[in-house]
Amino acid sequence: MKTYKIAVIGGDGIGPEVLAEGIKVLDRAAEMGGFAFEYTHFPWGCRYYLDTGRMMPEDGIEILSKFDAIYLGAVGYPGVPDHVSLWGLLLEIRHGFDQYINLRPVKLLRGAPCPLKDVDPGDIDMIVIRENSEGEYAGAGEWLFKDTPAEVALQTGVFSRKGTERVIRYAFELAKKEGKSVTSISKGNALNYSMVFWDKIFKEVSAQYPDVPTHHLLVDAASMFFVKDPKRFEVVVTSNLFGDILTDLGAAISGGMGLAAGANLNPEGEFPSMFEPVHGSAPDIAGKGLANPLAAIWSASQMLDHFGYPELGKRVIDAIEKVMVEAQCLTPDMGGTATTSEVGDRVAQLL
Ligand code: NAD
Ligand code: IPM
Ligand code: MN
Repeated sequence: MKTYKIAVIGGDGIGPEVLAEGIKVLDRAAEMGGFAFEYTHFPWGCRYYLDTGRMMPEDGIEILSKFDAIYLGAVGYPGVPDHVSLWGLLLEIRHGFDQYINLRPVKLLRGAPCPLKDVDPGDIDMIVIRENSEGEYAGAGEWLFKDTPAEVALQTGVFSRKGTERVIRYAFELAKKEGKSVTSISKGNALNYSMVFWDKIFKEVSAQYPDVPTHHLLVDAASMFFVKDPKRFEVVVTSNLFGDILTDLGAAISGGMGLAAGANLNPEGEFPSMFEPVHGSAPDIAGKGLANPLAAIWSASQMLDHFGYPELGKRVIDAIEKVMVEAQCLTPDMGGTATTSEVGDRVAQLL
């Protein structure tokens, strides 16, 4: 039987709680599809850091490179500075495995809570493609004259031709395949090097896809339209930081942080890809059975797509939708009283 080797990094806070539910659903899907998942759990994260001084072992990337995919919960917890925990694990994996596409669906399913007026399921159906390897997250910078009155912090955005072109091209290929438009979101009026460059590359690549309708928005206006007119967006392509911010906004208009999923892809398959909810470790609700596992389950569905089982991926989304429509078994963030594990059980059952 075909067996996929999955590295599971639950991480911190609610990370392990929500992954446990995603695994229930993955196992049910594998049973239906006649294949199997084999999980190896790694205890990496903030507790591991406090014990060892590292977020993962020195050869962590090498260890992970042997797996078909990574399933990650969340990283970050009070007690370890966030930039240390994130750069020591999550961002290290995204960069180390050149997972340059961050695919984040923003889709309002039936039954999902939506704070917007006059918006129906189907009205919000976009896929945000976030550049995931460089840009504002390149980690390039300097802290001069630290802890003196003269201190200066520099954080350099890095936009290479290769990095910018490949993410924009990915967006066009997807849009072409699905008959959709592409909206580029940037900020060339203020960021007079990086975003003027981004806009230039977008124009160049778009010229090679004359049949794909294109739009271009400045990120401030785009944020406004996410709320006022989300229907206008189909495939969205944007930089690392803008994509980070816009996808929390996207989560807010399409069911909340408990439902937002993401896939960090190395499209060439040279390295493993990583699947994770968009949300963080939510220390405020960790360990109480309150976390909504649907985001982790949705990212499991993205893993099924990635392994070439889009019908199974779709059935997982349908099961998520069903659990929200029946509204009998939902966590408190969606107005219910069910626990994390009850929701996972119900989705697996509906599947
Ligand atoms: P967060 O996403 O953890 O939480 C924001 C709010 O959303 C909180 O009120 C939380 O209770 C709620 N929430 C999040 N996920 C939920 C879920 N599944 N079910 C119900 N409610 C949910 O963001 P934060 O509070 O800004 O960050 C907390 C920590 O997580 C920080 O250390 C941050 O750096 C880290 N973080 C990690 C990731 C990641 O690993 N991918 C993503 C974001 C933040
Ligand atoms: C996300 C998170 C991360 C990011 C943080 C934790 C570094 O917010 O995946 O959206 O900004 O990419
Ligand atoms: Mn984020």
